[in-house]
Amino acid sequence: MIYVLGSINMDMVAQVDRIPKIGETLGSNKFYVNQGGKGANQAVAIAKLGGNVKMIGKVGNDANGQFLLSSLSSNGVDIECVSVADANSGIAMIAVENGDNRIIFDAGANSHVTEGDVDIGLADASENDILIMQLEIPMEIVEYASSVAKEKGMTVILNPAPAKSLSPLLLQNVDIIAPNESETKILTDIEVVDEVHLTLAVRALYKTGVKKVVVTMGEKGSAVAEGQTITYIEPRKVNAVDTTSAGDTFIGALALCLAQGKGMVESAQFASVASSVTVTREGAAQSIPTLSEVKEIMESEK
Ligand code: RIB
Repeated sequence: MIYVLGSINMDMVAQVDRIPKIGETLGSNKFYVNQGGKGANQAVAIAKLGGNVKMIGKVGNDANGQFLLSSLSSNGVDIECVSVADANSGIAMIAVENGDNRIIFDAGANSHVTEGDVDIGLADASENDILIMQLEIPMEIVEYASSVAKEKGMTVILNPAPAKSLSPLLLQNVDIIAPNESETKILTDIEVVDEVHLTLAVRALYKTGVKKVVVTMGEKGSAVAEGQTITYIEPRKVNAVDTTSAGDTFIGALALCLAQGKGMVESAQFASVASSVTVTREGAAQSIPTLSEVKEIMESEK
């Protein structure tokens, strides 16, 4: 089983030609709402790609909360351990300009996740299971969950997004860290401008105690580091309309393949194809492909 502990948000998306200046009001070209949240997107990716996934998190006691629960459930995510907090549901206000996004996030119910929620959510977890986390819920809960997961012998995958400084306690419990380029820069102070800097950044991350590293680099592809070997995964060339949740699709797909016993590189190759589909569609959870869609592409591009 794969467990995802993390955020569940309602995404409110405006497509714009440009970001407004200070004091300016700018009309959007298109507006839509859909289920997002880094944790929820990762869980939806696993479910849509055919995996068993349990979400641990919180929605608010508002209409958005009901919508989010039903979206997760209809996408095949186990929501038994998603509870309702006395707060608004998490909200992400997203401006999409030329396919790229800028996000303002209000945690709302996500900030009400407790150690008790982790205990209940991971009660049946064991050493063959995977825990995925991001950083849109309180850091102390992420740290606590990493310790619980390690005691159980689970594999811990951390997507350090949005980037924050990470404690040694958390890092020593992380098996795989998967930052994007900007998160890598914040965590290591190294800009991944070429292979030399990528190697330096990977070494810096290893020094923190994490065991494996996957760096996602958007249209430049991704890199998988295991021991001394760094493998570069070529990106698929696609026409990006909205990159929201591409990274989440990658993380979910990676975890799913690892749970199926595949190696890191093969898993990242599959994840790369899955996330390349996500960027060609608008929205977060709604843009994530199904297993048959990814398989069809992989077959046709063999
Ligand atoms: O990673 C994309 C997600 O980040 C969006 O769906 C938004 O909710 C924010 O959490």
